[in-house]
Amino acid sequence: MIPDNVVEEVRARADIVGIIGEFVQLKRAGKDFRGLSPFKQEKTPSFFVIPAKAFFHDFSSGESGDVFSFLMKHQGMSFVDAVKYVGARSGIEVREVRRGRKGEDPRRPYYEASAHAGAFFRERLWDWEGGAAAREYLKGRGIDREIGERFGLGYAPDDWGALRDAASARGISEGILLELGLLKKSERRDRPYDAFRNRIIFPIESVSRRVLAFGGRLLGPEGKGAPKYLNSPESPIFHKGEILYGLSWAGNHIRRQGAALLVEGFMDALSLAAVGIRHAVAPLGTALTDAHARLLERYTKQVRILFDNDPAGQRATFRAADVLLAQGVHASVVTLPEGEDPDSVALSGGADAIRALVRDAVDVLDRKIAILEEHDYFSSIERTRKALDRLLPTLRAVTDPSLRDIYLSRVARHTGVQRETLEADLRDSSAPARIPGAATPARTRRPAPRFHGLGPDRALILFLLKHRDWVERAGERLGPSDLEEGSYRVIFEELIDNPELTALPEGAAPEAHRSFEDLMGEREVPPDGVFGDVVLRIENRTRDRRRVALHRELRGAREQEEKHRLVKDIQALNREERALGTDWRRSARWFAGTSRQMGELAP
Ligand code: UTP
Ligand code: MN
Repeated sequence: MIPDNVVEEVRARADIVGIIGEFVQLKRAGKDFRGLSPFKQEKTPSFFVIPAKAFFHDFSSGESGDVFSFLMKHQGMSFVDAVKYVGARSGIEVREVRRGRKGEDPRRPYYEASAHAGAFFRERLWDWEGGAAAREYLKGRGIDREIGERFGLGYAPDDWGALRDAASARGISEGILLELGLLKKSERRDRPYDAFRNRIIFPIESVSRRVLAFGGRLLGPEGKGAPKYLNSPESPIFHKGEILYGLSWAGNHIRRQGAALLVEGFMDALSLAAVGIRHAVAPLGTALTDAHARLLERYTKQVRILFDNDPAGQRATFRAADVLLAQGVHASVVTLPEGEDPDSVALSGGADAIRALVRDAVDVLDRKIAILEEHDYFSSIERTRKALDRLLPTLRAVTDPSLRDIYLSRVARHTGVQRETLEADLRDSSAPARIPGAATPARTRRPAPRFHGLGPDRALILFLLKHRDWVERAGERLGPSDLEEGSYRVIFEELIDNPELTALPEGAAPEAHRSFEDLMGEREVPPDGVFGDVVLRIENRTRDRRRVALHRELRGAREQEEKHRLVKDIQALNREERALGTDWRRSARWFAGTSRQMGELAP
């Protein structure tokens, strides 16, 4: 536990506006600050931060409390972690006294081992003779010691056991290092060996600045089959589809700038920061995921994409843009000179060169149209038809209603296709498939009993595979974590990523591939009415799971404040369920898709 006086001091010194402002976009409203509820979807802001009282109040969800309860509620932190988090930002060192074994975070040894490895690599870079070449290399790339230290860079020596031996001297478990991918095993070696060798190390941090994983760039040229960049594998503390490199330090700058720059690589993000452009983040060698977009959306609604200007880079750009648009984030494209990346531009032209390029960023749809025009796509009917096919995914992705409207007009103007026709096209191209002989029109029917026997996860995926136009709506209600079985989770996640998906990525687990093929081969088409029922069942199951977890937490809770919070959470959960259970009519209307009532129904 943390002594009361320390808790009080942290609370008193905390900048509640600054801290909540890291998660919610706040605007001054007289003496208070106001923003959209982070707990409930809403269009008009009813979330208030009242600095004079060190208090927040959310009128739409009824949540309120101090800075700690905000972090517990919004970030799922424990009370102790919330106090530490705020303490770290307020210049107060928070130490726990007497910590019970039971309450310990099972991920703690992983965090500790990662932190230790980070410190080891740093020391090898800056304070070790053998790190000279790495220091020179960084200098040549515009990274001096001050910047390098600020971003925690390190160097992994060209040695098969340097980290292993240093860690074992400190009593760090080899098993944990293996799980973190810092050590590896092979049949040819009797001892585990260092995975990162002769590489510049980029620590990958959580937004609360814990080291979760590492990226390593080979020092010097590629060869010997060693890839240029190596990332830590997935681990108990690292899920690369959910982490953006640089967000831990760029987050506040993104809010201040009102926009984020999305770049491809570690060096791009770092070089931009080195010339004073601090709002850049990079996905970790993967395509932008839905989770990435949601993460960014908490900081800004404007993302400028600065990927390579080659065909592969363009494809990645448009794919990322569609993922962003689907999360209500506006995407624009910065066109880099051919053969350049943000790192090389920053190195040769400095911040001004980057700023000039960013100033010329073009909305993603406009950029697509421009590329199509350059390739003479609007010259004939046949080619215009093809151009339209390229534009439709973006039209389909955009969720923001006014942006969608603008996009439709623009595409209508360029293709000469009437707006109404386009809208019909969008509806048809994603309309539920009708299989001959498959019963009466679905909309008028109650769920067929047979689908009740399926298990809700399978029923949901099957439904979505046949009714692709419902994927987006499913994604608004459910996340992959709501599904219980791994294969269905993977399929759901991929579907949200790309509703037209016809095959899983090669890297997916064999079970997921089997499951996908099996479901794709299924002839039965679940009727529309199934959707609402299935979603509600899955939601209820998640609520049950959460209730069990809250009760368990309550039994283990020590701090009074934490207990209070947990009881409130349980009550809220019960209320939510009661409200849903008795209001079938409203949910039925929503499920029928006649209007969006997310704000009222979503938890
Ligand atoms: P690039 O090949 O464009 O590298 O890969 P870069 O960022 O310009 O790197 P420098 O300038 O040569 O140092 C972009 C990103 O793709 C991932 C990394 O995340 C990298 O930052 N990548 C690249 C890998 O994961 N593995 C690789 O072998 C190469
Ligand atoms: Mn580069």
